[in-house]
Amino acid sequence: MEQSPAENAPAEAPRRLVTVFDTTLRDGEQSPGASMNLAEKLEVAKALEELGVDVIEAGFPIVSAGDFESVLEISKMIKNCSVCGLARCVEKDIDAARDALKVAVRPRIHVFLATSAIHREFKLRMTQEDIIARAVEGVKRARGYCDDIEFSPEDASRTEIDFLCAVVEAVIAAGASTVNIPDTVGYTTPQEMFERIQTLRNRVPNIDKAAISVHCHNDLGMAVANTLSAIRAGAQQFECAINGLGERAGNCALEEVVMSLKTRGDVFRADTRVNTRKIVPTSRLVSQITGLKVQRNKAIVGQNAFAHESGIHQAGMLRERTTYEIMTPESVGLLKSDLVLGKHSGRAALADRAKHLGHELTQEQLDRVFTEFKKLADRKKDVFDVDILAIIEQSIHDKKNSQGDTVDRYWHYAGYELAIGSEKKPVLRLTLSQNGQEKTVEVQGEGGPVNALFEAVQKATGYQLVMREYKVDAVSGGPDAQGEALVHLEQAAEPGVIYRGHGVSTDVIEASIQAMIGAVNRLIGGRLPAEA
Ligand code: KIV
Ligand code: ZN
Repeated sequence: MEQSPAENAPAEAPRRLVTVFDTTLRDGEQSPGASMNLAEKLEVAKALEELGVDVIEAGFPIVSAGDFESVLEISKMIKNCSVCGLARCVEKDIDAARDALKVAVRPRIHVFLATSAIHREFKLRMTQEDIIARAVEGVKRARGYCDDIEFSPEDASRTEIDFLCAVVEAVIAAGASTVNIPDTVGYTTPQEMFERIQTLRNRVPNIDKAAISVHCHNDLGMAVANTLSAIRAGAQQFECAINGLGERAGNCALEEVVMSLKTRGDVFRADTRVNTRKIVPTSRLVSQITGLKVQRNKAIVGQNAFAHESGIHQAGMLRERTTYEIMTPESVGLLKSDLVLGKHSGRAALADRAKHLGHELTQEQLDRVFTEFKKLADRKKDVFDVDILAIIEQSIHDKKNSQGDTVDRYWHYAGYELAIGSEKKPVLRLTLSQNGQEKTVEVQGEGGPVNALFEAVQKATGYQLVMREYKVDAVSGGPDAQGEALVHLEQAAEPGVIYRGHGVSTDVIEASIQAMIGAVNRLIGGRLPAEA
């Protein structure tokens, strides 16, 4: 196997810093069901800045007014890292990116154009010469607006290598400061990726004028391996997303690459600026906001990542931690003890716990969360981290509009009565309030109680809805555990646009109603301007 630059270095050579380009808010947000509103995107962007990423890809400004606004607002807020907007090699895209990034302290425009034969022939109907001309034109236009320009030859891993070298040389000559090599369809292997990066470094004459980046998708489960291989071959930037969010099977997981570089510095001789202790809180925040749960056995951030079940392992750990642990849970920000709060716990303890879980609450948010916490502590003896996270989600995110404000036009849950039995159709009386006015409806469900809830929510709010997904999970263990309901609804009149809702309560019926109301509120928030 060929030697990587890292392996050629003397053993004591310092580790070089690689640039972390986070695309949770762009490629990650393209995952089905992961869409976020403006307030949520701002919260994630803040967390990414605190995590220590170098570049935040905040969105694709031309795609929608919402995307444009979020890139603009993130640009206003972020001070310590670059903010990037995506654009095709099309004038209006590049101009929209420029406008959305105009207030950013460190703006970057990321232009892309597919280069592989498949894309040239079937998607773009362009020749190789056309592609180079369009790519150069796009980079030059973007470079007229800012100095930090990234170019991505989409589907680079399936592009003929000679042509890829020619494209890379041309865009660097046109002013690109980063050339990103995307494995758009997650097709490549670590060995191929290594060779591709090595070839670009050896064959492109002006390659030292730009940084090489990689962007790997996970269709064959190799995104992280391919990324690490590119870093071994000398890539200076990698693109990634928290929890591996991204199109289809996702993107390269930030936490896995960062911790691989930390833990196997002997192999990679590279590191990042990431504050690894913020990894778990950031992962939880993104999971909460998107509603996309992290699989239990996921590396670094899964619930079981540091759990030792077998007796032999536990015994080994008691004698010497390193027998079965290659990094500490503390190093990724996982508190060993799942500290329990109860009804005697005060506001300060709750604020402290929330902070540790990744949520720096404002006074107003803390008041709301504390009220809910007290209600829960009356119903449930022990309140765990997961319960606190569920309350935060419930009392902050679902009650805000896209600007982050709580508004009167939203529906609030006020109470229900349900008559049910094995031989009876469920009869439900549901009371909601809007703008201080209560409204009670009564329905007789044709199916089970969930059907009755769904009918009642539609009757009370006046929306004709279709339920695309519904699930209820226990937040923690034990018979007094809270139930967490998640629904995906769409309006019958607007198929394909999914609104997510989330509810949590020790009463699963109540949790389900809250989830449905949350989805309706998102629908209202998404449709009306904030000041309406
Ligand atoms: O996967 C891909 O090719 C992309 C590009 C826009 C970088 O997301
Ligand atoms: Zn991608």
